[in-house]
Amino acid sequence: MIKLKINHIEITAEEDMTVLEAARQAGIDIPSLCFLKGYLNNPSCMVCMVKDKSTDTLVPSCGLKVAEGMEIDTSSEEVSTSRRQAIEMLLSDHVGDCVAPCTLACPAGMDIPHMNRLIAEAKFTEALNIIKEDIALPYILGYICPAPCENACRRRQIDNPASICLLKRFAAEEGEDKRAAEAARLHKETGEATKKVAIIGSGPAGLTAAYYLQLLGYSCTIFERSPEAGGTLRYDIPEEQLPRNVIDMEVDLIRSMGVNFHFNTLIT
Ligand code: SF4
Ligand code: FES
Repeated sequence: MIKLKINHIEITAEEDMTVLEAARQAGIDIPSLCFLKGYLNNPSCMVCMVKDKSTDTLVPSCGLKVAEGMEIDTSSEEVSTSRRQAIEMLLSDHVGDCVAPCTLACPAGMDIPHMNRLIAEAKFTEALNIIKEDIALPYILGYICPAPCENACRRRQIDNPASICLLKRFAAEEGEDKRAAEAARLHKETGEATKKVAIIGSGPAGLTAAYYLQLLGYSCTIFERSPEAGGTLRYDIPEEQLPRNVIDMEVDLIRSMGVNFHFNTLIT
């Protein structure tokens, strides 16, 4: 056994212990962040700093082995200041820690981790409704989105990114858009709203505007110069890439919410 002093209190510890473990065993609290018992230790957060009086240095206690006669200080102002500085450093640059990197990379800012969790729990309708808070046409995007979220996915550091785009498509196939269904029911019962909006073009922007405005209680009419809805989705993207029935399903849903379409109508 090794004898050492922590805050002037003599304690004993096993030879292979760290100062952090010895202190905790003796009931002396030292904060820690990156240290996790049972896992390979790689001191990096510096939150567990203590002062080794024999060398007069500040050291991370989770990486410091106990030694005979060692004297450790865990509570001086100097130690507290160094821990505070470590936390300030950590908080000054932590992009992708509070908000997942996939969500930060998504141009729509969609809550991707929430969608993933709900799909993992087989809650497909709930997953779709999370998607629809930010993305009106997930079934279409599930085919053509370039998926910047997958480039940012942390899982890449281990093997491959989560298949976020395919998961979104899957949720769109399996889930039910509850808010759209409610809007459709209201439209059937009460007819057109008094607040009306005209939208020119039924491309992705026009369809998205109609979807969200209809949810907000407006009655939308889309004027489209072509004979069918979809704009660039239908007329510029090859069918092998985006099957036309996928566009039709999204358009039908928006129509069911009460949106009127006027085709072959050029607004000048
Ligand atoms: S693992 Fe990938 S998909 Fe999951 S939350 Fe992290 S970045 Fe997003
Ligand atoms: S707990 Fe992070 S360096 Fe010790």
